[in-house]
Amino acid sequence: MIQTFPTTPFDGQKPGTSGLRKKVRVFQQPDYAENFIQSVFDVAERPAGSTLVIGGDGRFHNRTVIARAIEMAAANGYARVLVGQGGILSTPAASHVIRKYGASGGLILSASHNPGGPDEDFGIKYNIANGGPAPEAVTEAIYARTQTIDRWMMVEGEVDLDRIGTSQVGDMVVEVIDPVADYAELMEELFDFDAIRTAVRGGLSMAFDAMHAVTGPYAHEILERRLGFPAGTVHNGQPLEDFGGHHPDPNLVHARVLYDLMMSDDAPALGAASDGDGDRNLIIGKGVFITPSDSLAMLAANAHLAPAYAGGLKGIARSMPTSAAADRVAEALGIPLWETPTGWKFFGTLLDAGKATICGEESAGTGSDHVREKDGLWAVLLWLNILAVTGKPVAQIASEHWARFGRNYYARHDYEAIATDKANALMAALEASLSGLPGQSFGALTVSAADQFAYTDPVDGSESHKQGVRVMFACGSRIVFRLSGTGTEGATLRVYLERYEAPDGRLAEETPAMLADLIAAAEAIAGIAAHTGRTAPDVVT
Ligand code: G1P
Ligand code: ZN
Repeated sequence: MIQTFPTTPFDGQKPGTSGLRKKVRVFQQPDYAENFIQSVFDVAERPAGSTLVIGGDGRFHNRTVIARAIEMAAANGYARVLVGQGGILSTPAASHVIRKYGASGGLILSASHNPGGPDEDFGIKYNIANGGPAPEAVTEAIYARTQTIDRWMMVEGEVDLDRIGTSQVGDMVVEVIDPVADYAELMEELFDFDAIRTAVRGGLSMAFDAMHAVTGPYAHEILERRLGFPAGTVHNGQPLEDFGGHHPDPNLVHARVLYDLMMSDDAPALGAASDGDGDRNLIIGKGVFITPSDSLAMLAANAHLAPAYAGGLKGIARSMPTSAAADRVAEALGIPLWETPTGWKFFGTLLDAGKATICGEESAGTGSDHVREKDGLWAVLLWLNILAVTGKPVAQIASEHWARFGRNYYARHDYEAIATDKANALMAALEASLSGLPGQSFGALTVSAADQFAYTDPVDGSESHKQGVRVMFACGSRIVFRLSGTGTEGATLRVYLERYEAPDGRLAEETPAMLADLIAAAEAIAGIAAHTGRTAPDVVT
């Protein structure tokens, strides 16, 4: 029996860079999650008889919202729900399941790399039938619907999320599926598992930090069971509702233990980590950190070594703040390079149209056209495939890459939890100063151009404005300023710094020293200290 509950709109149910993210306490308010999910169902394109995929990263509050989402799907006319056992589906696995089973879309319950627990973060993201995050037109429609919503609907029912199998809620079939099986099978199709297994027997070693988040079960199955890495290769492999009290964010701050291991004499050949929902990756070779921007470029340059990409790449796409390292690879391969706004949703049309094969973001995101999300374990497996086939250590692959293409020294400085009005004032002042910047010098750096990045999607023509301030220098260096769209507290200012050294330049220097001039210029141009009172970033990645 369908039950209809009257409701009134909540302010601020606007999806950000990656879905609606709020504190758990916000999501726990009566009707809060229900209003958002009902708004999704009210606007989503879903023909009669549609299948909906539901999964999450296992964080606190997941099971509560999943149970309710299933009841609501039954009342809203879905024929079938596919849900991962225990409510678990990594974001890339969810994308794959949506595509494989022809679902009309999916709900992914995650706040990605943000911490979890009763006082931490939660999120809901809607993905469309291609398996990718809903594009802006859809998220805008969802948001508009949240502002007028007056009822939500459900059919009471109970599903044992821990037991694989089929049950019924109202007229709707609910299938609890193995969250790992389909994904692991896809990875076996893409990569040369035989070559990797042989290399493992020959001594190829690695450490994978699952950060007590969703990739634990995936990594145990793929790395240890299927590829033969010894037990213990996967660290922190058990998903926990609060991620063991840590941020499941694979960067040099939160994956410090892994970093220290990789810089030690006992380091294995490859160190890697993934985030809360399994779409990000951190890559560290023995004694060498590979920036995500460099990883994208190196993966693209060597992708032909993996079976799935042996026929070559159609194109490479990167978000605007990501370094231009991949541009040089695209040029050498004679394929297009697409520069998009921040957020994976902008890659969907390019992948669907066959304009790009590999995509990446400086925020530890890399992926390909095998799904429509970034994919942490995919990146790790492509690295392993390359290491296995070449027999070279990561450091050698990196140094040979830089010797061929040059090196883009790169860092991102984050200033977190700034008062929103101060952050907005900083950006407004920066925007107002843009037209006067070209020609000005900051130390040895002279500004050649400065603008607000805007984007017109080459496939569907949709436009996105105000996607970050770019300041370009005559020497090829660049600073980008933008405010985060994923935070749940105040504003986060991101400052992206990039300096290019040609193949005959200084390729083996320390990044902070190489970026010192740019850091000073960023302060001079944006007045970060004056606006925010902050004299140093909270996180450097
Ligand atoms: C951040 C990253 C962005 C990524 C997003 C979702 O968004 O910068 O590249 O796509 O998380 O994982 P931001 O907080 O900068 O808006
Ligand atoms: Zn994530």
